Amino acid sequence: MRMILVGPPGAGKGTQAARLLERYGIPHISTGDMLRAAVKEGTELGKQADACMKRGDLVPDEVVIGLVQERIAKPDAQKGFMLDGFPRTLPQAQALQTALDESGVDLDAVVLIEVPDQLIVDRITGRRSDPETGAIYHLKFNPPPADVADRLVQRKDDTEEACVARLEKYHSQTAPIVPFYEKRGVLTRVDGVGTPDEVTARLVDAIG
Ligand code: AP5
Repeated sequence: MRMILVGPPGAGKGTQAARLLERYGIPHISTGDMLRAAVKEGTELGKQADACMKRGDLVPDEVVIGLVQERIAKPDAQKGFMLDGFPRTLPQAQALQTALDESGVDLDAVVLIEVPDQLIVDRITGRRSDPETGAIYHLKFNPPPADVADRLVQRKDDTEEACVARLEKYHSQTAPIVPFYEKRGVLTRVDGVGTPDEVTARLVDAIG
């Protein structure tokens, strides 16, 4: 299974990917997680990405495309993968398609998780994550257990200001990939409003 989760910031891509992984037995490839790891390690790539991410801007296409091409060529991704946060621009979608065509494989599903803009700021500003397990919580919608609450961290780009910039980028740069995948007949839309369990059930239905 080769699939992509698309959606605005805070749509629940990371939350749902964690729930779907066991079911499909494929690696979760999140460009956001890969870039945050590079920032933490202090690599050149990390330094370049850090400034873009804090502002809510996209990291340049050539940087992210290179990262993903390298990652999907690894042995664990030969039977499939779940991409989250990539592609995010038309050139990224075209580069991925070229890489898949060259390997003689294609995408099985591209799932768009739809959440209206007015719900996004609340979801983003209330998000906290556990640096030890990677688990994602929300102060109101998915409160953490008491024994981990003290160690939770907030992402640097989860401010209201950066969130507004990220949403703007989503509509101007990422939304154009939707018709690209619609034309290829692989896009499915899933309503991302509701409890995480309800959204998981819709995703499983949509993916099959
Ligand atoms: P990235 O990490 O990919 O961020 P994003 O796409 O903005 O998505 P998020 O991680 O913010 O949200 P999510 O959809 O995973 O939601 P989550 O499940 O956490 O990218 C970050 C940055 O990296 C970008 O801005 C860019 O700079 C750079 N970057 C990454 N990829 C790039 C690329 N390809 N090209 C260029 N630059 C790139 O949920 C959010 C919150 O809501 C959580 O608190 C969760 O608990 C809660 N929640 C989840 N589901 C529900 C629900 N159903 N109801 C209520 N609350 C819910």
